[in-house]
Amino acid sequence: METQIQKKRIFSGIQPTGKLTLGNYIGALRNFNILQDEYDCVYSIVDLHALTVRQNPTELRQACLRTMATFLASGLDPEKNIIYFQSQVAAHAELAWVLNCFTYMGEMSRMTQFKDKSAKHADNINCGLFTYPVLMAADILLYQADLVPIGADQKQHLEICRDIAGRFNAIYGDVFTIPDGYFPKVGARVMSLQEPTRKMSKSDPEETYIAMLDEPDVIRRKIRRAVTDSENSVAYDPDNRPGVANLMSILSALSGQTLDQIAAEYGDLGYGKFKDAVADCIIATLEPIQKRYAEISADKAYLQQVMDSGRERASAIAHRTMLKVRKKLGIAPWKL
Ligand code: TYM
Repeated sequence: METQIQKKRIFSGIQPTGKLTLGNYIGALRNFNILQDEYDCVYSIVDLHALTVRQNPTELRQACLRTMATFLASGLDPEKNIIYFQSQVAAHAELAWVLNCFTYMGEMSRMTQFKDKSAKHADNINCGLFTYPVLMAADILLYQADLVPIGADQKQHLEICRDIAGRFNAIYGDVFTIPDGYFPKVGARVMSLQEPTRKMSKSDPEETYIAMLDEPDVIRRKIRRAVTDSENSVAYDPDNRPGVANLMSILSALSGQTLDQIAAEYGDLGYGKFKDAVADCIIATLEPIQKRYAEISADKAYLQQVMDSGRERASAIAHRTMLKVRKKLGIAPWKL
């Protein structure tokens, strides 16, 4: 008799704001691809999260479609994986409300991303920004995810998700799977090319990040201009020489070479040659993705089909979790 082994579930999300960066690719999207064969994967374009910052509707719509096309171009198979827009599954907002009632103000006010974002958007410190991690917890828990591939910057949010789930389970029994994080071995925190003590971010100025859709000559120029130091030797010392360490991590993450191998190969060759090697490796990684992106983004019927199928399949899983949650809480639907 054939026995079917239940695959473990993966959930992760990326915000559709601005352009996806090399940080998003190394920290998350590349692992989405690596994990897609072994796990049952659900990948969301989290457009509700993007609303915590004011968005231009036309640009948001374009960014959503661009993000979906980039997911697909990176190699994610929409049949094997569920790929969908968060706002199309109403259960995200529904569970977020429920979980809000199991989350404390003090917990939320300790979140470093809230502190950073409210400093950046001082004129719009809205409640959504404050409870952002609760929506993120809802995303993950709705799908009963075992594993969440993310970059290091999302670690604190995953911790709070685990706390909220544990609290809920302690009251109502085994409702939610408690998820673990899955981080890249190198490149969990890709840094800004201009200020290598800050993380590379799509909301910072252009020259600080590589966009996944940057043309090869733009990539080369940005890497050539990346901040290093005056030592002119390639060695890994992130505390004292963060610029060089960042470029080494990028090269290591993309090429599979260890940091030691990179130091041995480029040690005394000078920054010019080292930076050319880093740029070559990024271009070799991104060029095939960009080619597929051009084809996929032109195929609106295909994107529509992926979007519709993703919504249906995600909704079915989310619905099952919500029924369980409703029953535990004592809210309708009841069978009278
Ligand atoms: P977002 O959209 O800022 O980033 C998406 C993913 O990319 C990773 N990442 C990085 N990794 C390494 N180096 C960097 N410089 C870098 N910048 C970004 C992030 O860690 C993330 O994995 N709140 C999340 C989105 C989200 C989510 C979720 C993630 C919403 N719900 C549920 C996982 C599960 C965010 O803003 O990621």
